[in-house]
Amino acid sequence: MADEWKFDVPTVGSKQLPPDPRYMEALTSQGYGFEAAVADLVDNSIDAGANDVVIHFLRDGDRLVSLLIVDDGCGMTEDELDVAMTVGGRRDYQHGALGMFGTGLKSASLSSASAVAVVSRTKTSRPAGRRWVMEHAKDGFHCDIVEPAYAQSLIDRYSGGSPIKWNGTVVRWDGVKDFPRNGSLEQTERYIARIIAKLGMHLGLQLHRFLTREDFNITIAVEDITTGMVVTSYGVMPLDPFGYPITGNQDYPKTFKVENAEVGVVSMTAHIWPPKSSIAEFRGIGSLIETQGFYLYRNDRLVQAGGWNNFRQPEQHLALARVAVELPSTSSDVFRLTVKKDGVEISPEFIAALENAADDSGAFFATYVADADTTYRDARKRAGVERKPVIPPGKGLDPSIREVISEELPPLIGEEPIVIKWQALEGDAFFELDREDRQILLNQRYRPGILGGRRGGLNDAPMIKSMLYLMVHEVFQRERIGPRDKDNLQMWQSVLVAAARAEMDRLSDRDGE
Ligand SMILES: Nc1ncnc2c1ncn2[C@@H]1O[C@H](COP(=O)(O)OP(=O)(O)OP(=O)(O)O)[C@@H](O)[C@H]1O
Ligand SMILES: [Mg+2]
Repeated sequence: MADEWKFDVPTVGSKQLPPDPRYMEALTSQGYGFEAAVADLVDNSIDAGANDVVIHFLRDGDRLVSLLIVDDGCGMTEDELDVAMTVGGRRDYQHGALGMFGTGLKSASLSSASAVAVVSRTKTSRPAGRRWVMEHAKDGFHCDIVEPAYAQSLIDRYSGGSPIKWNGTVVRWDGVKDFPRNGSLEQTERYIARIIAKLGMHLGLQLHRFLTREDFNITIAVEDITTGMVVTSYGVMPLDPFGYPITGNQDYPKTFKVENAEVGVVSMTAHIWPPKSSIAEFRGIGSLIETQGFYLYRNDRLVQAGGWNNFRQPEQHLALARVAVELPSTSSDVFRLTVKKDGVEISPEFIAALENAADDSGAFFATYVADADTTYRDARKRAGVERKPVIPPGKGLDPSIREVISEELPPLIGEEPIVIKWQALEGDAFFELDREDRQILLNQRYRPGILGGRRGGLNDAPMIKSMLYLMVHEVFQRERIGPRDKDNLQMWQSVLVAAARAEMDRLSDRDGE
C-alpha cells in the first residue's frame, strides 16, 4: 500500500494565481511579539550597514503616540523603497545577510501597528518615503507615496545635524497595538519601564554578537514630541548566553560535529555553565527550563534561544547545558527558520544523528548531556553540609523565586506547598501561621505600607514574602510547635509589627508632602 502513495498527482498544465490582497492580513497574523517585530527591523538596519540604531518611543504628554526606528545605514532610493515595501520583494542577498524571506518589514510592522511609513535617503538620492496602511493594503495592495517635504523633514529631524551628508532610514509605526490604551501618566510610565527592560533583554540576547562590536550600538529612547527632548535613553547591552566567567566543567566547551547529507557538517559547541550563577546571562533570560538546550545562530544572529527541539525533554538537572549551533545561511528541510526568526524546526533525521555526533576524541554528544547533569548534581552535594528537604512555597510567591528556592532547597515530594497571602486579621499581628491549611497570612492592614504605593497582586511584596518563608517554613514541618519556635515567632512578630508600622508612617508622611 505504502508504495502507491509515492506516485505523482497527474496534471494537465498550470495557471498563475496571484494572492488576493486579503493575503496581507494572513501575513500579519503570525503572532509576532512586539520585541520580535522590533528585532526584525533592527536586522534590516544591520543589513544596511548601520552603526547606530535608535528606537524612539514618541510621547505626547502622557500618551505614547508612535514608534520610530532610525538607522544610519546605506538608505534606499525610490526604486529600492518600492522593492522594500513589496511583500517578498527582495531576491538577491549578500553573503552573511540577516534578511532571507523579503517579508520581515511588512509582516513585523503590520502585525504590530496599523500603519508603517518608511522614509529613507542614500548618499546620492533625495529623501523619499512610502507607507502601508493596513486598510489600504487590504484594498488591492495600495501603497502610499509619502509627501517629499515630509520625508525631508523627518530625515532632518533625525539626521543628527548633518542633513547634507546623511544617509539612513526612518521607519515609523503608528497605531502600535502594544502601547497602553489607557494613557494615564502612571500607566505610560509603567509601560515604558517594562518595555525598555523587555526590549533591551530581547535585542541584547538575539543580537549579542553584533552588540559586542565596537562600531555598533542600539539605543532605546523616549522622546517628548512637544518639546523634542529625549527624556530617557538606554544603551542596549549585549547578553551573551555563553558569557560565564569560568566554565562549570574543565573539559568544556567541546565541539561536536554532526554529519548531514543535505547540509554537510554542522558544528555544535557544547558548554556547561558554572552551577548557581546569578548573573543576567544565566538567570536573566528566562526560566532555567526554557534556557537550556540549543542556541541556534544564523549569520551571527541568534534565531533560537534554548530548547531541545525534540532531542529530549528539558529538566531542572540540565539547567547548565547550553549548546551553540552555527546554522547554514540558507533555510532548508533540515533547519527551517520561522519567518519571525525566533525559532527553528529541525528535521527528525538531524535530531536522530545527534546521538552519534562525536568530538575530536571520539566522545559522543550523550556524554556531554551526562556531564552537564553530573556538574549540576555535584554542586548540590556540598562537603559536610547536607540541606534537608523542605515544604516548598506555593501561591503568593513569584514563580521565578519559587524556582530558585527549589534549586537551593530540595522540595519534599508530595507535600502541599505553603501559600502566602494577605488577609484581614484581627488585632495588630503582622502575620499568622495557619498550620492546618499550610498558609502564611499577612495582615492586610499593613499592605499599603509594604507596597509603598505600588500596585498589589497575587505575587506582590516578593522581598517580604521570601524572607518570611525562609524564617518560618520549618515550623510547618514540625509535629508540634516547641518552646523555642514559640519564642522565635513571638520575637519576629513584635519586630515585624514595629517595622510594618514604620512603613505605614512613611507612607502617610509621603502623602502629606
Ligand atoms: N533599514 C533599512 N535600510 C535599508 N534597506 C532596508 C531597510 N529595511 C528594509 N530594507 C530593504 O527592504 C528589503 C525588504 O525588507 P524585509 O525586512 O521586508 O525583508 P528582508 O530583510 O529582505 O527579508 P526577511 O523577511 O528575512 O527580513 C530588504 O531586503 C532591504 O533591501
Ligand atoms: Mg528583514
